[in-house]
Amino acid sequence: MTSRNAAQDMQTEIHRFNTLHDAQESLARRMISLAQDAVKRAGAFRVALSGGKTPAGLFNLLAGAPWADQMPWEAAHWFWADERAVPADDPASNMGLVQRLLFSRVRAPAKQIHPLCPSGVALETAARNYEDILRKNVPLNEQGIPSLDLVLLGIGDDGHTASLFPGDEALDCADRWIVAVPRPKGRPPVPRLTMTLPLINAARTAVFLVSGDGKRDVIRRILSDPESSAKKYPAARVRPAETLVWMLDSQAV
Ligand code: 6PG
Repeated sequence: MTSRNAAQDMQTEIHRFNTLHDAQESLARRMISLAQDAVKRAGAFRVALSGGKTPAGLFNLLAGAPWADQMPWEAAHWFWADERAVPADDPASNMGLVQRLLFSRVRAPAKQIHPLCPSGVALETAARNYEDILRKNVPLNEQGIPSLDLVLLGIGDDGHTASLFPGDEALDCADRWIVAVPRPKGRPPVPRLTMTLPLINAARTAVFLVSGDGKRDVIRRILSDPESSAKKYPAARVRPAETLVWMLDSQAV
């Protein structure tokens, strides 16, 4: 199903799949298409990946045929929507998961993989450094905010996304692109860095990949009434510049 938010000229797509694997395959196809369009348009593809476990199968798919041969690895820059302040080899590391499942198996230039929480760097310093990395590697929009081609997001059963949790002050941060979340309300309860809504919403496309009946209630509430849901659920405040895509398995909706 597709609809258009006239006020903001953003298009919303809702895709339901029998299984998470089907959703991941469709998302792999969509990522390749977005990447190829971005390279044609701007000479590079800039994408931020979500954390959590739901996208693990997607990372695995992108590392193999037919997708690995279609991704323009030499022109792609990889960012993270959020990261836990743990070493890359820690099972809780979002980048560590992508490194193991994807980057260890494809020809992605290391200088174009941008870890959000490098080991041994204080959170606030890492946040400021990442804003510089974004400024250097991503074109700015009319508001002077880096405009990523794609932000891939997950959602928690409380409606959080990235590391933007209900009621957290990071949620209303309007003048930063990356902020520290020292005491997140989510699991694992480790300090994190997260992209803020101004940065996420400056992206051309945002995709939520969602699986499991634990999220069905929050998904149904957001999809049935996005406006009022935005007061309660951070995920409902994701409004990218062009297209918002929900990719849901049959348990999540
Ligand atoms: C994180 C995330 C977070 C995640 C959701 C869903 O670092 O935890 O970015 O927003 O996407 O909590 O996580 P699952 O995919 O594991 O359900």
